[in-house]
Amino acid sequence: MIEQAVRILRAGGLVAFPTETVYGLGADARSEKAVRRLFAVKGRPAGHPLIVHLSDRARLEEWGEMTSASSTLAKAFWPGPMTIIVKRRGVPDVVTGGLDTVGLRVPSHPMALELLRAFEGGIAAPSANRFGKVSPTTAQHVREDLGRDVDLILDGGPCAVGVESTIIDCSGEPAILRPGGVPREAIERVIGPIGLGGATRAPGTLATHYAPRARVVLATEETAAAQSRGVAGRVVVLSRRDPGGLEWRELPGTAEAVARGLYAMLRQADADGFDAIVVVLPPEEGLGLAIADRLRKAAGPRD
Ligand code: TXA
Ligand code: MG
Repeated sequence: MIEQAVRILRAGGLVAFPTETVYGLGADARSEKAVRRLFAVKGRPAGHPLIVHLSDRARLEEWGEMTSASSTLAKAFWPGPMTIIVKRRGVPDVVTGGLDTVGLRVPSHPMALELLRAFEGGIAAPSANRFGKVSPTTAQHVREDLGRDVDLILDGGPCAVGVESTIIDCSGEPAILRPGGVPREAIERVIGPIGLGGATRAPGTLATHYAPRARVVLATEETAAAQSRGVAGRVVVLSRRDPGGLEWRELPGTAEAVARGLYAMLRQADADGFDAIVVVLPPEEGLGLAIADRLRKAAGPRD
């Protein structure tokens, strides 16, 4: 399978592959033509930068300029669910959306690493879903979303982390652009206090990003039941506690377990035909920060 995947990538094709965060839709990052096709299949507007996936830390310098913060972070967290943004080096414009920076990541999923090592180059890959939809955390999700538009789907089982990588901009003063699989607290233990946000060029900031078809309503354990009664249509509650007398799916007890199952639960609510999902936000610490970020985006702007 890996050999076939490498052949497809070298020929400018598209290969969906597992990572520990979510499934990626991969193309040869040096092939402008392949990356253009990737944008077309994903339905993503040009100008949104892609992450380049690499097999190991030593390759970082082929693609971007190291800084002391980026090498410290790479040493501490790669392979793993972290994307580091640095000034780019010889990366095609189409990959970076014309920015002078590039997002780089060494994933830890064994199948992703096997593919990257065999391919030897960089693989540009967004999450393997259509633009604006919930990211896939199983090969079946990818099949449902992209079907025949991908040349090959590598099945590496369900993703262990379940939310996307933490994106850290190291092209200036380090800042977290997107909370993700590496908790902010873990980063701060290595490089000290780090802010959230900054000059975000992430499509993740669009209101409709990460959204299921059903409307998403944010709640607390205390308000979930009352909020559900105020929402039109068939409603399902996602929370740790049974709200009583309502359609309810139990959220697991740890943020890690919630993250792992979150996107599958949102997809399942759509498949079950619910019109609205009332979901209890976790405490915003550890992976809870990434979970809350995705749920807020799924809920869209509040008026
Ligand atoms: O976990 C992940 O990061 C997954 C797996 C497949 O690696 N990938 C992923 O890619 O989530 P995507 O394209 O769905 O989201 C990448 C985010 C986008 O919001 C993009 O704007 C941002 O990374 N990004 C990429 N390069 C950037 C850059 N040079 N500057 C700022 N943001 C960048
Ligand atoms: Mg995405």
